[in-house]
Amino acid sequence: MLEEQQLEGQQPKEKQKLTISNLMESVSSSEKPGQDVVIGLSSNPRYLPPKYFYDQQGSQLFEQICELPEYYPTRTETAILRENGRAIAQATGPCEIVELGSGSSTKTRILLDAYQQAGYPLRYLPIDVSDTMLTETAEKLLQEYPQLSIHAIASTYEPALKALPKKQLPARMIAFLGSTIGNLLPEECDKFLASTSETLEAGDYFLLGIDLQKEISILEAAYDDSKGVTAAFNLNMLQHLNQRFRGNFDLENFSHVAKYNKQESQVEMYLESMMAQTVRLEDLDLTVAFEKGDRILSEISRKLNLQEMSSVLSRHKLTIVNNFTDTKQWFGLLLYQRVA
Ligand code: AVJ
Repeated sequence: MLEEQQLEGQQPKEKQKLTISNLMESVSSSEKPGQDVVIGLSSNPRYLPPKYFYDQQGSQLFEQICELPEYYPTRTETAILRENGRAIAQATGPCEIVELGSGSSTKTRILLDAYQQAGYPLRYLPIDVSDTMLTETAEKLLQEYPQLSIHAIASTYEPALKALPKKQLPARMIAFLGSTIGNLLPEECDKFLASTSETLEAGDYFLLGIDLQKEISILEAAYDDSKGVTAAFNLNMLQHLNQRFRGNFDLENFSHVAKYNKQESQVEMYLESMMAQTVRLEDLDLTVAFEKGDRILSEISRKLNLQEMSSVLSRHKLTIVNNFTDTKQWFGLLLYQRVA
């Protein structure tokens, strides 16, 4: 069911500053909730979709990951944004920002600052699966940016892109930061880019953060930190499934594994069963048996090649405005424009 909530600030009624729509429980999609879990856990090898990381607790753990010394992507992308925020605003002109996987919108603030400094109107359309994170962040942002109007959508990406309201500024930019695109398999990535590009009108923009290839020791440390925050983040997915689908995963019986797969240029995170055990997810009518050492693939994080991604984007009618990067070439921030 689509639920739309209009929240007023101190401004007159006709100028709503915050709209939140929740598509999370909507039955419009053909799939029953949790079918992806049933499919993943019944597959060989087993896997789970990374979106299940991000319940309230998981979103908070991810925020902690971003602060870890080992987790370089957030720091690096933030530095690129700081360095080039003004150039991005100049390139796009007045532009509303749609953000996929907005989380706490920390990096987005750098963009909002740049657009504000350029004297442009501020409109932001954050999309996230964690409705609590989305609502809390939206309320904070409205206090920080009096000129800002927000239309937030609690949803996975595809339904949200289909449900975007009419464009209110001369252009729109879809921002997909943090290298979350690296969670998608090549063919999923291709489908995602096709539908994202279709959502854009000619002249609109796409801002994409991608993590680049680098030394294995740096990559593996980033996904297996010394404080165990990433391990807690990975294990929390099982806790989330317990809550969501009345499951009985015992978190003590699984361990966090992160490994770089050189062949595929991707970090792989697994939840490994420490013993023979059976797990039941009541709401999904699903029972899963594990042997000791059996693994569930919970995430791939692909490390991409800037030139390759650039040519993939051009095949999707997205033409280069600029590829921004850091001095070490650890991370890429790609600004592209939709052609007719
Ligand atoms: C949010 C998907 C970009 O792949 O690096 C961080 C998630 N997983 N540590 C990533 C994540 C483990 C992150 N993304």
